[in-house]
Amino acid sequence: MKRELLSRVVLPLPPGTGVLSLYWEDLSSVYPGMLRYLLLLEVGGRTLALFSTNTYEYPPLLPIDAERAARQAARDWESALRSAPGTLPRAARPHAPFPPAAPGSVLILQGSPRPDGACAVLARWAAEAARSVDRPAEVVFVHDLEIRPCIGCYQCYNAGECTFDDDMTALIPSIRAAAVLVVCSPVYTNTVPAGLKALIDRTQALHARTALAGMRPPTDRAGVLLASAGRRGAENFDCVRGVVRPFMANIGIRLCSEVLADDMDRRRDTGPRPELEAQVGDAVRSALRLGSGMRTTVE
Ligand SMILES: Cc1cc2nc3c(=O)[nH]c(=O)nc-3n(C[C@H](O)[C@H](O)[C@H](O)COP(=O)(O)O)c2cc1C
Repeated sequence: MKRELLSRVVLPLPPGTGVLSLYWEDLSSVYPGMLRYLLLLEVGGRTLALFSTNTYEYPPLLPIDAERAARQAARDWESALRSAPGTLPRAARPHAPFPPAAPGSVLILQGSPRPDGACAVLARWAAEAARSVDRPAEVVFVHDLEIRPCIGCYQCYNAGECTFDDDMTALIPSIRAAAVLVVCSPVYTNTVPAGLKALIDRTQALHARTALAGMRPPTDRAGVLLASAGRRGAENFDCVRGVVRPFMANIGIRLCSEVLADDMDRRRDTGPRPELEAQVGDAVRSALRLGSGMRTTVE
């Protein structure tokens, strides 16, 4: 990632000689024209405080842009440090590393608000299939979680973290660690339900964190889509598939199998369907073979 120095000021501080540096970084490999400005206060090579902002945070109608905001912050910090050298502007918060993947672990996101509906059954079959080959599986009922919708602030491209601290904070490392990710979704007005969509949008922070660490998303993870539709016909899943595939690609997961249960309104039944259960089992087991889950790289 290209980085250039915009300004540098040397300041006498109580812990030693402080260096206040403002850089810009080219993040156009992440999004077209994206630049990140980084203000760092360092003493003896250690970062004591940092501020970052990026061009996508400033919508066209805002009367300020990232560069002006960053230069203003640099001026504010300098004058604050000159008048009160003992007061640090903001503590640096380095990332805790992601936990390593649990080998062969399966995370199942059950996206229907109905805890006893068709998707809950598909999720249960997926978990049973994983456990039948001695792989750990966890089913997450998305509707039980508190997940605020993404507000498009783009602050995750400053430090790799979302500004909201809700149930996504704990879920993101689990998504990152899963060797196989299974998404179970009913079709709602041709697409995924709102709660699942909120979760999907909020994984932008995971994409941001991977991109800022200069890493490509891992490519050895496999995804499975299990979906159910009230109407009859494969075309009812077009939009759900069109949402889930790029969601997975964005976080480095290859969607490798789909089981699509249509005509559910007429059936009104989530009872035994051995052929469907077998398809779910095959999908999960083949994803486990593809998703090695043996990654060791963490950022
Ligand atoms: C708000 C809402 C919107 C729906 N929209 C569609 C739709 O566009 N197409 C369709 O085939 N089924 C639609 N359905 C039916 C569900 O997809 C179907 O009943 C599904 O099997 C529900 O899964 P669940 O039992 O896991 O909740 C809709 C259901 C609800 C509640």
